[in-house]
Amino acid sequence: MKGKAIVTGGSRGIGASIVETLALEGWEVTFNYCSKRDLADQLIEKIQEKGGTAHTFQADVTDFESSAQFVTKAREAMGGVDALVNNAGITRDKSLFIMQPEDWNNVINTNLTGYFNITRQLVAYFFKNKKGRIVNITSVSGLVGIAGQTNYCAAKAGIIGFTRALAKEGAKLGIPVNCIAPGYIDTEMTSAIPEKHIQEIKAMIPMKRMGTTQEVADLTSFLLSEKAGYITGQVLTIDGGLTA
Ligand SMILES: NC(=O)c1ccc[n+]([C@@H]2O[C@H](COP(=O)([O-])OP(=O)(O)OC[C@H]3O[C@@H](n4cnc5c(N)ncnc54)[C@H](O)[C@@H]3O)[C@@H](O)[C@H]2O)c1
Repeated sequence: MKGKAIVTGGSRGIGASIVETLALEGWEVTFNYCSKRDLADQLIEKIQEKGGTAHTFQADVTDFESSAQFVTKAREAMGGVDALVNNAGITRDKSLFIMQPEDWNNVINTNLTGYFNITRQLVAYFFKNKKGRIVNITSVSGLVGIAGQTNYCAAKAGIIGFTRALAKEGAKLGIPVNCIAPGYIDTEMTSAIPEKHIQEIKAMIPMKRMGTTQEVADLTSFLLSEKAGYITGQVLTIDGGLTA
């Protein structure tokens, strides 16, 4: 057993690849689903068929109590936690002049406050044990401005600040905290982008393609491994050269 990991938003997209990759590498993994229990169950079945171990519980990361209950259930199911991957996120893209308070609040509450709500349940435990690793999935939208994403860019940039500050708190206890900033990755989130715009995006990316969820999962696995033990407070960008 490599360790025990919690992954948020693990039932689809990048999160599902992270869950599956870690589980098949020998991690015991617990992930939340939001409302689609069937997707989460299918992923668990797939992992079990391949000899891995995973658990799932419903949780809404925008809610502090729901986050607390989820982390407690995960700790009980696995008998401990060694690593956390904050991944759950949403987009509500539109120009600021038509953005409604709910578009702003939903994105900040999920993508930024959600990371606080989950991480807050685990830091005391990690710090007390002097053991633990945290990977926060941010985005290139946290590094550069993207029109139509003022809410998302603000949240993703916030995650980077959160990560750097927490890395300083955890460093003397040997707890690495890092961010991964994906560029355009082929998932349901990006399938909302019209095909014509996808072609324009691919033309703009130096590698001329979108990234795969597996590529993000492999980087996450590396950051959670002993090999990455001296990396902390960093943003590892995975974007085919987009921000180079
Ligand atoms: N797809 C991309 O191109 C891309 C690029 C950069 C960063 N990201 C980031 O990667 C992460 C995963 O993105 P994805 O493309 O896999 O998205 P996705 O929409 O496929 O999956 C998001 C997951 O988050 C969960 N989630 C959403 N709101 C939640 C809530 N309130 N409580 C608990 N879970 C919730 C969903 O149930 C889902 O499982 C996000 O943080 C996203 O911002 C994605």
